[in-house]
Amino acid sequence: MQTRITQLFGIRHPIIQGGMHFVGLAELASAVSNAGGLGIITGLTQRSPELLAKEIARCRTMTDKPFGVNLTFLPAITPPDYPGFVKVIIEEGVKIVETAGNNPKQYLPALKEHGIKVIHKCTSVRHALKAQQIGCDAVSVDGFECGGHPGEDDIPNFILLPRAADELEIPFVASGGMADARSLVAALALGAEGMNMGTRFIATKEAPVHENVKQAIVAASELDTRLIMRPLRNTERVLANAAVDRLLEKEKALGDKLKFEDIFGEVAGVYPKIMTEGKMDAGAWSCGMVAGLIHDIPTCQELIDRIMAEAHEIVRGRLGSLTQ
Ligand SMILES: Cc1cc2nc3c(=O)[nH]c(=O)nc-3n(C[C@H](O)[C@H](O)[C@H](O)COP(=O)(O)O)c2cc1C
Repeated sequence: MQTRITQLFGIRHPIIQGGMHFVGLAELASAVSNAGGLGIITGLTQRSPELLAKEIARCRTMTDKPFGVNLTFLPAITPPDYPGFVKVIIEEGVKIVETAGNNPKQYLPALKEHGIKVIHKCTSVRHALKAQQIGCDAVSVDGFECGGHPGEDDIPNFILLPRAADELEIPFVASGGMADARSLVAALALGAEGMNMGTRFIATKEAPVHENVKQAIVAASELDTRLIMRPLRNTERVLANAAVDRLLEKEKALGDKLKFEDIFGEVAGVYPKIMTEGKMDAGAWSCGMVAGLIHDIPTCQELIDRIMAEAHEIVRGRLGSLTQ
């Protein structure tokens, strides 16, 4: 199944694993790339550019296929060493970068000069158009369903993807709520040229997270996510747990007066406790509604092979028979 996305990134299947904090390590990125998709290492999970260089080198020992690095630009009082991370990406010869969060404009010239393809993740058509205008090669369009930060517009993919298709010239992948062959075929029908998955890839054998995290995703239904930090206009979709209940109580009580400091305990520095130690109530962690479609923990190869085989079957079989 060749699309502009497979051609752009030199991958076999139009399936991308989005950057995920404390999940997108070399084990997962290499497994996805070895299975013919595009694996992505999450840059900021590595605390310094030096550590990112080591993680990229580690990934190289695990795959000879293309993989990318995610750079998430978040508002921060003390921002990470973004120029340092960009330098390492260039020096280590990574050829694909997934940017997310704030506008990546200031880093684009350096990336493009070194032949690096940039896919920017965005949650609205206007941001996708902006990404196209500043020279991004592709975009990942994240609908309201997505795990992580869906933005503040609340437009689900059934509307957002065809809107993006109507406006964009560069290729895009559908992100948010994608889990299986049905997702891929639907995404293609809506105008995307592939799909990006986050939550689905956490529940795989190679994802280097605690077993409790994988079991929590399998056990969750589509009703089990919550939106937090709406009053701060930094909305995040997370899996419901005791910490999230506590946080939402504070949001309700404080209303417009809520400040980040009020919920520090529930959101700051919680990822290692959850992803590595498996303490599932330690804080709020991103998870998509798509958890309701996830019932097993396959290898990345099994997952991607199954998606591709069933996608061909849907197109040739069920859909093909409708047009005869
Ligand atoms: C646990 C988790 C952590 C994530 N961390 C990041 C991140 O650091 N940077 C980023 O750009 N996106 C992050 N995302 C978003 C994913 O890359 C992807 O866009 C999203 O999960 C797609 O929605 P889905 O979960 O429904 O597949 C994260 C998602 C999850 C579930």
